[in-house]
Amino acid sequence: MKKVGFVGWRGMVGSVLMQRMREENDFAHIPEAYFFTTSNAGGAAPDFGQAAKTLLDANNLDELAKMDIIVTCQGGDYTKAIFEPLRASGWNGYWVDAASTLRMKDDAIIVLDPVNRNVIDAGLKNGVKNYVGGNCTVSLMLMALGGLFQDGLVEWASSMTYQAASGAGAKNMRELISGMGAVHSQVAAELADPASAILNIDRKVSDFLRSDAYPKENFGVPLAGSLIPWIDADLGNGQSKEEWKGGVETNKILGNQQPVIVEGLCIRVGAMRCHSQAITLKLKQDFPVNEIEQIIARANDWTKVVPNTKEASIHELTPAAVTGTLTTPVGRIRKLAMGGEYISAFTVGDQLLWGAAEPIRRVLRIILG
Ligand code: HSE
Repeated sequence: MKKVGFVGWRGMVGSVLMQRMREENDFAHIPEAYFFTTSNAGGAAPDFGQAAKTLLDANNLDELAKMDIIVTCQGGDYTKAIFEPLRASGWNGYWVDAASTLRMKDDAIIVLDPVNRNVIDAGLKNGVKNYVGGNCTVSLMLMALGGLFQDGLVEWASSMTYQAASGAGAKNMRELISGMGAVHSQVAAELADPASAILNIDRKVSDFLRSDAYPKENFGVPLAGSLIPWIDADLGNGQSKEEWKGGVETNKILGNQQPVIVEGLCIRVGAMRCHSQAITLKLKQDFPVNEIEQIIARANDWTKVVPNTKEASIHELTPAAVTGTLTTPVGRIRKLAMGGEYISAFTVGDQLLWGAAEPIRRVLRIILG
């Protein structure tokens, strides 16, 4: 296995992937790395310590077919356009993809190796060639609470999400900050005056949120100063596509024969790149809280149980604390009044790391052996 081609390495997820690969010295494990482009073929390829090369055309099937492994963060439209024709041309290499297009295909494995290394290893052994990163919210929930799911202790889970702007893309992150700034600028003078009336400030902000002047080209509605209670397509049955993914992807990642019901509402909030989730779990038994915490904590190296106190929760269990890190803390764990099998949990994770780039980086290392 020698040639690894990277597509979409310059976008937001691709850039995080490259950064993580550099940090982990992954390029030292790749005999030959090639970089593809949809816009600048023939330009200079980035130098990750390998021989200088030129950028190759990401739409050229012959060039792609020379690769043993293709890693793409180019997005779903690229996968839709290229994957089938490339396979139809007889290419039998490994396709590693951050986009959702192929996730639910029978010949694709959703990768999250701290949770489903057994499924990945079985796939490699059985000749599966397509490895796809999971939905960010699902991956982050399973990184945090995977111990309970992996041990088969969950009867059902309901996840209510607080998803960051980054899940919608780089432009949406910019729009969130623009919205914050625009809101502030409406009332900057009043804020500077301690004697100004708060209800006057609030009225001006509210009027602005409802006005055409609010920057909302990408989200369509205001996010800063508000929230958006729908993510991804409307499936027409009352459920959003993001909510549908929660159930089907969780069970596919775990390789469950008996599906666990995962349900809830997915909500966009004004965080930058950390998705948070408030989760209600019905366990199959009435376990003591300390036993539940131990099962969660020992599942992998990145989950961390945060004590269910106000101080620990407000300091350690927030997007502000977690952003840019690989830790997936989980806290607010307590028994709910519904009964001994019902527990709450709250978890936060970086949507660009474990939610996108990290599982891709790690499965590439696994495939390279
Ligand atoms: N669909 C997710 C979101 C991101 O919009 O937040 C990708 O998994």
